[in-house]
Amino acid sequence: MNQFVVVANRLPVDAGPGGLVSALQPIARSSGGAWVGWTGNPGERPEPFEHEGVHIQPVELSGEDVDHYYEGQSNSTIWPLFHDAVEPPVHRRAWRVAYEAVNRRFAEATASVAAEGATVWVHDYQLLLVPAMLRRDRPDLRIGFFLHIPFPPVELFMQLPRRTDFVRGLLGADLVGFQQPLAAQNFLRLTTQLLGLHPEGERVAYEGRTVTARAFPISIDVAEIEKLAADPEVQRDAARLRKDLGGDRRLLLLGVDRLDYTKGIDQRIEAYGELLADGTISNDEAVLVQVATPSRMRVAQYQQLRERVEREVGRINGEFGDVGRAPLHYLFQSRTRAELVALYLAADIMLVTPLRDGMNLVAKEYVAARRDEGGALVLSEFTGAASELDDAFLVNPYDVDDLKRGIGAAIATGPEELTARMRRMRERVRAHDVDRWARDFLDVLG
Ligand code: ADP
Ligand code: F6P
Repeated sequence: MNQFVVVANRLPVDAGPGGLVSALQPIARSSGGAWVGWTGNPGERPEPFEHEGVHIQPVELSGEDVDHYYEGQSNSTIWPLFHDAVEPPVHRRAWRVAYEAVNRRFAEATASVAAEGATVWVHDYQLLLVPAMLRRDRPDLRIGFFLHIPFPPVELFMQLPRRTDFVRGLLGADLVGFQQPLAAQNFLRLTTQLLGLHPEGERVAYEGRTVTARAFPISIDVAEIEKLAADPEVQRDAARLRKDLGGDRRLLLLGVDRLDYTKGIDQRIEAYGELLADGTISNDEAVLVQVATPSRMRVAQYQQLRERVEREVGRINGEFGDVGRAPLHYLFQSRTRAELVALYLAADIMLVTPLRDGMNLVAKEYVAARRDEGGALVLSEFTGAASELDDAFLVNPYDVDDLKRGIGAAIATGPEELTARMRRMRERVRAHDVDRWARDFLDVLG
């Protein structure tokens, strides 16, 4: 039995990229608690085991659960709806049924490992119903919930079939955390609109309890990134990368994302193509490396994005490339954290341009890696990170001209100002790392 339990769709074992596991792994490790989640493979449920000091409690998803709960309701309904509907959300009754059944399975697995009076921390949009289910079975628990992705404006949320169930699901928690204050306000407004509740400030009374909704902007393990950035081998890799790409005469632009339509990858590549076409930059002066990690590849909208991006990469390299010298290197691959940090160290300009992103940890990792105070960050206004990193070159990613302007401004800015900007961003990220985020949340949860 455990006094502290993390509940998340994925286990921190062989996990692919993604902000959630990156953020929570260090906390689960240091608290020695339990982690309830799915291995990532359908039909697989290993016996519970220990992993890096964490008790791992696997939850099984059948092939059909993966289709309906994970790829369906989670990633084709809720994910797009909560990201400003940048792709149209799809609604299916069978997906909702599976989502509820899987949420119940997670709640039961959690109840089986949580000690009397334990603290349980449930994560993200795949598990919106779990807090209320757990509360019903285990009123002794202290329950926190954190949403890693944006929470939509009220008008958009209202489109969701069975919307009241999701609000009640979250109200099962004692504390509901969001990335942004506006998200917490949207949620509280919905409790009035759908349930007739009367929030006061951050609190709302519900079924004889008080639920608090508040922003806790997530962060990264700064020490881990700084350690990698100080590693001579990583630095050698960074120098090698620069040399291979044309040395100091060529500016290195970098994008690192899951291949996801919320990340603005196609708009970013379009802007880069236009900069080459209108002669603002040439293949001799600049090169773009785009790491796009495979993600949710069975979902049609992700396959379509891949096709769009790969077509555009081919077009740009065909039009502007030379033998032995491509203007755009596209890597549809996963990379180790050390390899990512080497890329961060090598990059003159980091492009983080999502159409919508709850936070975006890549932006914070880039800043943390730049112990040399070098480099520039071009950052979308529509990321959570933009509220903290306003020394970045902020852009509207929907406006290709504005993207080009932001990249141009980063290129044109002198080293002294770039250093001053990077120094201020580093101060912010170093003072608010993931440890502080977790402590803040757990202190309020009590
Ligand atoms: P999201 O949670 O939507 O994927 P974030 O930027 O918040 O976006 O978090 C992404 C996390 O995944 C970061 O910690 C980043 O380092 C990691 N990541 C992204 N791309 C890769 C990759 N190609 N290989 C390994 N890790 C990656
Ligand atoms: O926070 C965003 C998030 O969806 C996490 O919940 C998730 O683990 C990560 O991105 C990667 O996505 P997936 O688990 O679907 O591969």
